[in-house]
Amino acid sequence: MNCFLIAADRGEARVQALARLAQGLGYTVLYAADFAALHRNRAFMEARRPLVLVPEGQGATEGAIQLARMEPSRAFVVYVAEALAPDLYKSLVRSQSGEWIGWDNAAQELRDVTKGLGATEPADRNARIVSFLPSKGGVGNTTLTVETGIRLSSQRKQPLRVALLDLNLQGGTLADALDVEPRFDIGEIVAQPERLDEQLVDVFTSRHTPRLDIFACPPRHIAFGDVPPAILFTFIDTIARRYEAILMDLPKVWVPWIDNILQGSDAVVVCGGATVPALRVLTQSLAHLDTLEIPAERLAVAVNACETDLLGRITNQAQIERPLSGRSVFCLRRDPATANGALDAGRSLFEIAPNARLTHDIGRLAEWCGTAAKLA
Ligand SMILES: Nc1ncnc2c1ncn2[C@@H]1O[C@H](COP(=O)(O)OP(=O)(O)OP(=O)(O)O)[C@@H](O)[C@H]1O
Ligand SMILES: [Mg+2]
Repeated sequence: MNCFLIAADRGEARVQALARLAQGLGYTVLYAADFAALHRNRAFMEARRPLVLVPEGQGATEGAIQLARMEPSRAFVVYVAEALAPDLYKSLVRSQSGEWIGWDNAAQELRDVTKGLGATEPADRNARIVSFLPSKGGVGNTTLTVETGIRLSSQRKQPLRVALLDLNLQGGTLADALDVEPRFDIGEIVAQPERLDEQLVDVFTSRHTPRLDIFACPPRHIAFGDVPPAILFTFIDTIARRYEAILMDLPKVWVPWIDNILQGSDAVVVCGGATVPALRVLTQSLAHLDTLEIPAERLAVAVNACETDLLGRITNQAQIERPLSGRSVFCLRRDPATANGALDAGRSLFEIAPNARLTHDIGRLAEWCGTAAKLA
């Protein structure tokens, strides 16, 4: 695994320290005197997803941002500096191909940001799959997928490399929920399946954080029937080598391959609402899942947007849970202000409302996902 270090003077103490850190992470360090030299370097030009380390220095900030923003962004650029102005930091991170780390804690931070580089550090086993299945539209399936992904990828004890895959191939909202540009143009592999390789996966990836990637389709007219399931499964197998967990946001319209995905999942969360009609369709979905013989310990039911009393306790919890007895049930509170606030901001509830009761409810569900899928 090569890493490219931009340094006019290789003998400089900080440059040497950085090289040692990269070597400690298993990289072979190759030097380039500046960005122009980097682009003349054949090893760099032929690398699939090269890591480029840029220590602060004259022209380094601009060079790092420019390199990270280059389309299609092949390189992952880590800029190392004491400080970085917020607007420059934003430009670097929004490129989805750059990060800034400080000198003080460079060893830990470099390990963290490169851990997310699936392409440079392949997972030692295939990803576990967690599927989120809506029993009807608008029950918060996307919200729960996103929040669980954020939680698993940022948990303090053992942060995981996570991919969120939006299988609402038409009009999915997952990318919007995290304010990233959707890049998974599945029509391109349907038209030319032979083009599916690691480099194309890089192009399809929207990076939210170094440990959380998103695969969501740009708005484009593609019918479910036009996507051969084999192509979808090959794509999932290809990305499964890069992550520890893949979270699927499944569509509410049923197509036969959804059953295959559910049966191949390590954990399944069925999402529903708490009203009487919503609970009825939820039990219908569960009856269908029972025919697929998904083991009970791998299946959870998320009853979302439950009404609460003045003390914030869920009302009618017993009635909600009665038809679901014998199953792992998670009742999540109704809190439109917090849920919609996060959606409008394109950020997660864990980020903007870490202390909200709804956030805690979702935290418990995310914890179950980690345990059921044996991710913990
Ligand atoms: N617990 C909750 N309380 C109140 N509002 C919620 C809750 N969870 C989600 N919402 C809101 O419900 C709406 C639908 O959420 P979301 O998009 O996650 O649902 P979905 O099941 O994925 O919908 P779709 O069928 O469109 O894919 C959003 O406005 C979201 O903010
Ligand atoms: Mg959705």
